[in-house]
Amino acid sequence: MNILILGSGGREHALAWAVKQNPKTGRLIVAPGNAGIATLADCADIDILDGAAVVDFCAENTIDFVIIGPEAPLAAGVADATRAAGILTFGPSAAAARLEASKAFTKEVCDACAAPTAAYARFTEAAAARAYVQANGAPIVVKADGLAAGKGVIVAETLDQALAAIDDMFDGAYGAAGAEVVIEEFMSGEEASFFVLTDGTHALPIGTAQDHKRRDDGDTGPNTGGMGAYSPAPVLTPVLQEQAMAQIILPTIREMARRGTPYQGVLYAGLMIKDGQCRLVEYNARFGDPETQVLMMRLGAQALDLLLACATGQLDKAKVHWADDHALTVVMASRGYPGTYSRGSVIRGLAALPETSSQMVFHAGTTAVDGTLTASGGRVLNVTARGATLAEARSRAYALVDAIDWPEGFCRRDIGWRAL
Ligand code: AMP
Ligand code: GLY
Repeated sequence: MNILILGSGGREHALAWAVKQNPKTGRLIVAPGNAGIATLADCADIDILDGAAVVDFCAENTIDFVIIGPEAPLAAGVADATRAAGILTFGPSAAAARLEASKAFTKEVCDACAAPTAAYARFTEAAAARAYVQANGAPIVVKADGLAAGKGVIVAETLDQALAAIDDMFDGAYGAAGAEVVIEEFMSGEEASFFVLTDGTHALPIGTAQDHKRRDDGDTGPNTGGMGAYSPAPVLTPVLQEQAMAQIILPTIREMARRGTPYQGVLYAGLMIKDGQCRLVEYNARFGDPETQVLMMRLGAQALDLLLACATGQLDKAKVHWADDHALTVVMASRGYPGTYSRGSVIRGLAALPETSSQMVFHAGTTAVDGTLTASGGRVLNVTARGATLAEARSRAYALVDAIDWPEGFCRRDIGWRAL
């Protein structure tokens, strides 16, 4: 079958890499893709937020299956457009993707199905929000309701920080995303990511992972999109996974179906674990980045079969074939990230690294200029390895990192520390 993947990050490189290994895959196109993706698929320059353009492209290229990577096309209704055109699609409708696109909506769903999550209140004007944080005190969490490229959440340690965040949001610092503000109880504990495929009725857990959101070693420095990840996350024990399924994931799936907006795609639950209990921090309506890089390295070719079972409503018949393995990815980013950084620096040494089912350098922000690989984004490479133990995966990944010659790049040296 001919497959189109939408997106251009490390997540989409990892998805393309896994899908490509499956014998069902015929032509593989990624839009817009990047320099790494171009080594294993055709890249197409289409506007992935434009559902009609995606549908036209699918017709012209006899695409049988569309896999949507990022949240923006989901929130823009691209899955609605492709499904309406009769194209098999992996990814939720815009109505279902509100589980990521609106934090207030997610809270409403949690209330309706009694899923454990932080206590909260919603506000559309600053004075009432300020009064609420003054009454509740710090630490407290202030969130812009809508999509804000991962920047709309302020975990305020002091009252002043919370008040400043409220003012910023209502002053338009996050645009329309901040027109409504959700203020939440601060939850302490250990965070982990849980990935569950659902076709709207059935659900299939496909793995756990832990991300490292801070830029610097020891989980210090500014927040980023993620500096590394590993899978599985030992903190999410089988018992806790069952609890999360029973108390959070399945009730959410039933509630979405009850509302007439069944959720089809991957439900990525951010969970906070404390004292043997997990609570929902947030949902994402897509795969995580860089968590997908470690999930795909562990799943390999079967990933396509699982995504197809999801898109065709047959997850009850699907099964994950697990190897008893671990995978770890180290993000190499441009110096300056997540602040300002320069583009165009040359990356050397990648061509000499063997690409195998146990080690891959997935590309995020890269561009090939006259055959030379250059950095064109903040997060640039996802150096990923698999091993029989997490320690082995980690030493393999860092051996690869050390073989890459990119003086303008940096990475954390402690990915996986919590589990090791
Ligand atoms: P989100 O965009 O909702 O994932 O939030 C980003 C990060 O903020 C999460 O991954 C958590 O680390 C943190 N966070 C969000 N909500 C809470 C909360 N209620 N309590 C503690 N930390 C939170
Ligand atoms: N790694 C965090 C995310 O994908 O949202």
